[in-house]
Amino acid sequence: MEERKWWKESVIYQIYPRSFSDSNGDGIGDLNGITAHLPYLEKLGVDVLWLSPVYQSPNDDNGYDISDYRAIMDEFGTMEDFDRLLAEAHARGMKIVMDLVVNHTSDEHAWFVESRSSRDNPYRDYYIWKEPRDGREPNNWRSCFSGSAWEYCPETGMYYLHLFSRKQPDLNWENPQVRREVYDMMTWWCEKGIDGFRMDVVSFFSKDQRFPDGAAAPGEKYGDFSPYVINGPRIHEFLQEMNREVLSRYDLLTVGEAGGVTVEEAKKYAASDGSELGMVFHFEHTDGVMEEKVIGKWDCGKPRMPRIRSILNKWQLELEGKAWGSLYWDNHDQPRAVSRFGNDSPKWRVLSAKMLATCLHMQKGTPYIYQGEELGMTNAPFASLEDCRDIEEINAYRQYVTEEKVISADKMMQCIRTVGRDNARTPMQWDDSANAGFTSGTPWIMVNPNYTQINARAALADPDSVFYYYQKLIRLRHEHTVIAYGVFEPLLQENDSVYAFRRLLDNQVLVVACNWTDQDQPCTLFDEDPSVHPGAVPEELICNYSVHKTGVLQPYEARAVLYRAD
Ligand code: GLC
Ligand code: CA
Repeated sequence: MEERKWWKESVIYQIYPRSFSDSNGDGIGDLNGITAHLPYLEKLGVDVLWLSPVYQSPNDDNGYDISDYRAIMDEFGTMEDFDRLLAEAHARGMKIVMDLVVNHTSDEHAWFVESRSSRDNPYRDYYIWKEPRDGREPNNWRSCFSGSAWEYCPETGMYYLHLFSRKQPDLNWENPQVRREVYDMMTWWCEKGIDGFRMDVVSFFSKDQRFPDGAAAPGEKYGDFSPYVINGPRIHEFLQEMNREVLSRYDLLTVGEAGGVTVEEAKKYAASDGSELGMVFHFEHTDGVMEEKVIGKWDCGKPRMPRIRSILNKWQLELEGKAWGSLYWDNHDQPRAVSRFGNDSPKWRVLSAKMLATCLHMQKGTPYIYQGEELGMTNAPFASLEDCRDIEEINAYRQYVTEEKVISADKMMQCIRTVGRDNARTPMQWDDSANAGFTSGTPWIMVNPNYTQINARAALADPDSVFYYYQKLIRLRHEHTVIAYGVFEPLLQENDSVYAFRRLLDNQVLVVACNWTDQDQPCTLFDEDPSVHPGAVPEELICNYSVHKTGVLQPYEARAVLYRAD
């Protein structure tokens, strides 16, 4: 068994503060709103809260554009509010993990204000400045949020790089002074007593210093930066340095958001020797799995279970004993899990949400729950662009519908309702009062109208709710080491409807089977001759049905049975 660590046995709950709970009626969630709901989170039983960025920010990308790393965003409250949240979470036995966004800053950060002011400013080299090429951008890289990744500054006649919006200039990680500043800032937060970092786009820190053009599709103006940015030449050197300078000095949970990471790379980022990070988020089961590609990331389809399974199983098998993994269906950049992977119709929503939860939480790795996932919250019926707030959605709409006219407004809205990031960002649904109990004012983004049915108060009053199912899954992980540390083995890999696997630890075998369809599916895994599990006493740990059918998994049925030979 690998080395035990608290963060390998924990369940993490991600909070998107802007949409969690508004304590002062301005329509925007805030820190005091989170503190007020700590009893709810404690009841759920999660161990760690990861806060999406709460730092000072002009909010071009909802806090992922930071203008002061040591101050709290005015709309979210004050540093005293933060200190109180941290103390109260700790008092209830929950840890706090901060989002660390250091691939880029806001263009309103003091470093950038200095940097852009003149070619010889001491902060010039904190960012990535290039001369024009033939009077145009230095290369053809496309920004993640549409258009060129370069912005021209007339003050000094040069371009700066921004892989995201033009208000998110990329820091120059080649500059040792930049790295020193970042490590000092991280240490400052660690000294405050925080418990870890989720590192934003960590796989983008190190750029190929030749800055070559990227491959562009025929007729496309911009090219793909990925091969020259993702898992770049010095990334592991940087993270090892960060580990020596900061991470190794504290007992932290660290998780890198690593778009474009392969299993091979993940073994370095999250190596068991602890030389870099604790774990990474990969995107293989969320990016490009929807099977009805429209344009760019935009899609209106559904993923197929066998494809998701082969990706997740590959990660389970390949990381075994070499690196620790993370488990997630949902976060603030993804559509709602039950709408995407499950079935959000009233008939199947609860069952399929529980099935997905079982499928994920019984795997090996640290599970992440995104706010509202524990209620089975769904995608939202955004009718037109006016309902949207996300810069990625707005820029893509502008490009594809308004400027290039390559898809219709209807199609684009359909894509946004399917994969847009705002689906995850509608307010947390607390109760069936106005605005779902999120705010007494006007919410910054529309509330999903299904809050009258789907809300925390209703869930807490219903013993069969998705909430109590998650509560049980979390408790099981705390009670059974086989769930945290058991070795993963795929089962029934030829079955296109049932996702099954087992976990092995000492004398224990945990068998898990999940029906991903709305039909009965034959499955005899739990009815086999007991000699298959010699001498073992079966104990059903969890199931989303109270009555079983022999030889069959009912629609969206999920079961986990532990066989223990004592
Ligand atoms: C990450 C964040 C996303 C943000 C981007 C730029 O992918 O999760 O929300 O837009 O980085 O910081
Ligand atoms: Ca507020």
